Amino acid sequence: MVREWDPRTAPSVEIEAVLTTLNAAIATDLPDDPTWRIDSFREYLAVTMPGERRVCWLAEEEPGASHHGKPPLGMANIVLVADLGVLEITVDPAVRRKGIGHELLGAVAQRAYAEGLPSVAVEVVGDTPAVKFYEHYDFQCAYVEFRNVLQLSTVDWYRLGEMARGIGSGYRIEYYPGGPPEELYEAYAEAKAIVRESYDSSDLELRPASYDPERLRASLATLHARGLRPYIVVGIHEPTGKIAGLTEVVVAAQHPSRADQYDTVVVPAHRGYGLGRALKARMLFELRSAEPRLTEVQTWNAFENEPMLKVNAELGFEPDRQWSEYEADVAELVRRFDKDD
Ligand SMILES: CC(C)(COP(=O)(O)OP(=O)(O)OC[C@H]1O[C@@H](n2cnc3c(N)ncnc32)[C@H](O)[C@@H]1OP(=O)(O)O)[C@@H](O)C(=O)NCCC(=O)NCCS
Repeated sequence: MVREWDPRTAPSVEIEAVLTTLNAAIATDLPDDPTWRIDSFREYLAVTMPGERRVCWLAEEEPGASHHGKPPLGMANIVLVADLGVLEITVDPAVRRKGIGHELLGAVAQRAYAEGLPSVAVEVVGDTPAVKFYEHYDFQCAYVEFRNVLQLSTVDWYRLGEMARGIGSGYRIEYYPGGPPEELYEAYAEAKAIVRESYDSSDLELRPASYDPERLRASLATLHARGLRPYIVVGIHEPTGKIAGLTEVVVAAQHPSRADQYDTVVVPAHRGYGLGRALKARMLFELRSAEPRLTEVQTWNAFENEPMLKVNAELGFEPDRQWSEYEADVAELVRRFDKDD
C-alpha cells in the first residue's frame, strides 16, 4: 500500500493527485489557511538545498492508483540533512485512524535508520491530530513556537508609515526583491551569524539557514527553484556600512495570498533604535505593491521572544496557534515498529 515516489519524474496527474490530498488535509486541519495551487508544486516537492535529499512515499488503495488521478490516501516525505531527518506525514481526513499514518511513519523510520540518522524531527501543528499521533510514537517536544497572522485588511497604513520612518539617525533602509545583491552577501551572512539566537529565529532550524555567503547563495537559488519568492529589507548602519538588521519574507507560488515572514534580526549593537519595527513596516509596504494577491502574512515566534512579540502586536499580528518541533530517536522508533508489527 505504501510505495516510494519521486516527484521529479512523476507524471503530472500524480502531482495533481497529491495536491488534492494535501488540500483536503489543509481544509480540515487549518480551515483558515489558503489551500495550495498547483503552481510550481512539483518543484516545491522535488528541489532541495545542495547536499540534502528528499525521499517521498505515497499510500494508495491500489498500487499506482494515483497514476490514474486517484488522490493518495496519504503521503510522507523526509528531508535528509547531515545528521537529522525532517519528516512530514499527511493522511486524507476521510481515512484517518485506519493505520495509514502508522504505515507511512514505519517507512520513514526504516529509511532514516538505513541512512544512519540518529534522530528525526517534525513540525507539529497545534490543535490537529498530529499532536496525539506523534506523542503516541514517543516523539518528544523539543521546541514550542506560536504562529501569528496579520490580515493586511486590518493594517493602518498611515501608522505603518510612521513606523517605517521611525528609526534613529545614521541608519538607512533598503529593499531588495528577489534577495540581497551579491555585494551584500558577506555582510548579510555576517549579520545573520551574529544573531544566531535572535528574535524571530522562527525557522525551528528546519528551513535553510544561511550563515555564510555560499550557503546564502544556495539558499536563495533553492527558494527560487521551489517557487518561493524572497523579499528582503535591510537596515544599513551608515557610518560603518554594516548591516544592522534585516527582515525576510517569502511569497510561495503555491499560496500567494499568504506570505511567510522568515527571519527578522537586529544585530545587538543596533537594538533600541526602532529598526525591527521599521524594517517590518517597510516590508509590508513593499509587499503590498509587489504582490497584489497577498492578503495575509504569517510568522512564527518563540514565547520568550518578547521584543519581537511586541513589534508583531504593534503591526497587527494576531496569535493563531501553537506550532512545535518534536523529535524522536530513530533506533527507538524502529524498535517500536518491529515490536508492533
Ligand atoms: C497525524 C496523521 C498523519 C495521523 O494519520 P492516521 O492515519 O490517522 O494515523 P493512524 O491511524 O496510523 O494512527 C496511529 C496511532 O496514532 C494515534 N492517533 C492518531 N490520530 C489520533 C487522534 N486523532 N487522536 C488520538 N490519537 C491519535 C493513535 O494512537 C493511533 O492508533 P490507534 O488508532 O490504534 O489508537 C493525520 O491525522 C494527518 O495527516 N494529520 C495532518 C495534520 C497536519 O499536520 N495538518 C496540517 C498540515 S495539512
